Amino acid sequence: VRAYAGPMPRNRSASLAVAAGALLLAAAGFSPLDEFEPVSTAPVLEIPDPVPELSRAQPGPVARGRYLVGMLGCANCHTDGALIGEPHPQRALAGSRIGIAVSNPLEDPRPGVVYPGNITPDVRTGTGAWSDEALIRVIRTGIDAYGRRHLPVMPWPIYANIADDDVLAIVAYLRAIPPIEFEVPANVRRGEEATAPFVHFGVYRSRHFSGPDGR
Ligand code: HEC
Repeated sequence: VRAYAGPMPRNRSASLAVAAGALLLAAAGFSPLDEFEPVSTAPVLEIPDPVPELSRAQPGPVARGRYLVGMLGCANCHTDGALIGEPHPQRALAGSRIGIAVSNPLEDPRPGVVYPGNITPDVRTGTGAWSDEALIRVIRTGIDAYGRRHLPVMPWPIYANIADDDVLAIVAYLRAIPPIEFEVPANVRRGEEATAPFVHFGVYRSRHFSGPDGR
């Protein structure tokens, strides 16, 4: 999954046609791409250390959970600013005020937008009130504590086969980090106007090639 990088030209003459079209639009003072700028996500390496007392109580799973959360990149989405390459240093895992739209920005001016939530143990704004079962279920199946089904932009299909020990370690770690009170914007339905920033995710293949081996 990556941020939208622009249309893929079919071949040289098509790219010339695209360039000519862009010139015409530019001459007319408008390009659909004016509304967008490329950004790249930043890996968040500085995920919080567990609160000391708790990590003494559970040295094994908490340390392994920290390792897994770092490796699975949870903070890359669940940290404010990380999605545009500017992670907020004190808010690792406390949710993102920058949302994600899974859509083509040139075709969909008002896409649905989801905001990766606060997964620190803050009771009001985070997952502090969730049961272990609810956390495990959302990681494995995308169904949250309220029975809502999350889009696979939260990469639960990739985490679906995670071993029991590993998902328990992730939950132990998420419970052992300091709670951070931080509220993320509500998700936006398709067709509604978003009031907070968002990035587009999407993978676009060149229409010039049809198969995986380039035929
Ligand atoms: C590619 C971005 C991305 C990554 C990586 C990611 N998530 Fe999420 N996650 C999301 C989004 C977006 C949502 C909200 C989806 C929705 O509202 O439909 C979410 C939702 C959740 C929720 C439900 C609570 C909430 O915030 O709505 C939990 C818990 C969660 N993720 C934990 C994790 C954990 C643990 C990892 C790493 C193992 C992880 N996520 C990795 C994007 C991501």
